[in-house]
Order: sequence, then C-alpha cells, then structure tokens
Amino acid sequence: MSATAVASRSRPVGSRLEVVPSSNGFGADIVGFDFELLDERQVAEMRAAWLDHGVVRFRGYRFSDEQQVRLTGMLGDFVKHPRQLKGEEGAHPDHEEILVIGNAKVDGKSSGTMGNSEAQWHTDTWFYERPPAAALLHAIELPPEGGDTYFADMYGIYEQLPSALRKILEGRLIQSTTIFDGAGRVRTGQTAPDTDDIRLWAHMRHPIVRTHGESGRNCLYVGIDSPSSWIVGLPLDESAAILSEIFDFVRMPDFQFKQVWEDGDMIMWDNRCTMHRRDGWDGQYTRVMHRTTTLGERPFYRY
Ligand code: SIN
Repeated sequence: MSATAVASRSRPVGSRLEVVPSSNGFGADIVGFDFELLDERQVAEMRAAWLDHGVVRFRGYRFSDEQQVRLTGMLGDFVKHPRQLKGEEGAHPDHEEILVIGNAKVDGKSSGTMGNSEAQWHTDTWFYERPPAAALLHAIELPPEGGDTYFADMYGIYEQLPSALRKILEGRLIQSTTIFDGAGRVRTGQTAPDTDDIRLWAHMRHPIVRTHGESGRNCLYVGIDSPSSWIVGLPLDESAAILSEIFDFVRMPDFQFKQVWEDGDMIMWDNRCTMHRRDGWDGQYTRVMHRTTTLGERPFYRY
C-alpha cells in the first residue's frame, strides 16, 4: 500500500471511526464502527479505508447476520457463489446472501463449504465475468488453532516486479479452468477434461494486469494458484515459470496481512487487488465463517 496509507491513522471530525493501519500499510483495523446504526457517512469512511488498505478488520464487535447483510447491501449488489445457492452445501438456512464456509455437519451432511483443508492462493469467484469487489468474512465458530487466513497485496507486488516482466504481462490474459473447484472437484455442470493440454480446458480469461475500477491503479490479477493456469499466448513452460515467480512474491510476508482469527472477527477485503489463502485445521474441531460479497466491475486493463 502507499506511504500515505501508512500515515493515515485518523479520526475524522464528528466521527467515532478510527482507522489503525498495520505496520506495512496493507490492512487496517476499524475502531468505533457502529453496526446498530450503520450510518451512511461512517460506512463511507470505512469504505474509503478499505480502498486505501486493501483489507480491513473489525475486532471486538458483536453483530448479527442481518447486520452483515445490511452492511454488505450498503456497499454494492450481492454476488452469489454457486455453493450458496439453495440446496448447496454452503447455503445459509435463512439468508440467501450468505455463503457458509466451514466443516460443520448437520445430520451427517456438510452444512458449509471448503471443509477443513488448506486453501491455496486465490481471488474469490474469479470464474465469473464480474468477480466480487468486496468480500466480508465473519468468524462464527473457531477451532483452538489453525485456519489462519493470509492476504497478499497485489498492487504492491505489481509495483515490485522487474520492469521487463511487467512489460511481458501488460495487456495479456490469465486463463484459469472453470472445470475444477478449489478442492479439485468437478464443478456442477462441467465435465472432466479429455486432454492433458490445459490450454484446451474450459476456462475464464481476465487481464493479468488489471486496472482497479475505483482507485485507477494497476495490480496483478491471477485468479488462482494452480498448475492449470496459463498466461495466454506464452509457451507453457514460460507461463509456468512466470506464474511461479509471481507466487514467490505472493508468499513473501512483506506483502502480506496475516489474520489469526479471534471470536467474532470480521475481515473485509478488496477482491480486485488482493489474493488470499488459509491454513487447514484439525477436522475434529469446527470452524464456521459467514461470507457476503458485492459485485465488482468486469476486469479491464488501462495502460
Ligand atoms: C475464502 O477463501 O473466502 C475463505 C477464507 C477462510 O476460510 O479463511
């Protein structure tokens, strides 16, 4: 994030909101937010902090699913993940806007999606033409350890890439297959590929360097860390080498915000300019999170 973002610890006159940036400016805590009131001005201030810092955390609050849904609705239109649709494992019993992520079981059946395994680096719902802008993840039940979530600053990484590599990437598309989900399962309505050539697999393509629709800044947008991703037009081995170099940056703690969850925490990230992954945890313990997302612009690149 920017140096100005690091210095922007602030409490605007007339507001009880305070923004406390993390030491590298990527990620900030939001203090004094009022979930009862959900006052438009305060929501706008919080939103501005989220645009500046990429990830914001709400810690020490108590709020309901209704309040999470109301807040999300003030930020934009909802996006629904395929697994939150009625009858799917991640559907919420009362709120169709919420995706339930977790390993709880009801009557022996999963009542959440993604289980207890590690999730590799990804951006949410990259397989849609218009992936989400904001994602809000609320911790409902946590295991005693594990399940930490890591966010990577894709503006910062783009700015640090060697300029020769930036030149190769600018104007190119990243192709990621739509056949498999993050757990390697064939998605509903898709069929397993009948060739090993990943270039021929059913896919979604987005610009690998993306212009953020609100900040106007460019950042990397990779979709998911997977051997089936391909930088369109490059020889497969060159594409794999570049993606591996990009993920070497993503794995650097300097570009990360690490979330060790506490009861009731909520993280809101900008899905357009960040990636995230999470650790697994011991499956005898339950972890349940409620996620809501808002619609982003169709990814585009402006030089
Ligand atoms: C997600 O990928 O949206 C979920 C992350 C998590 O469970 O921490």
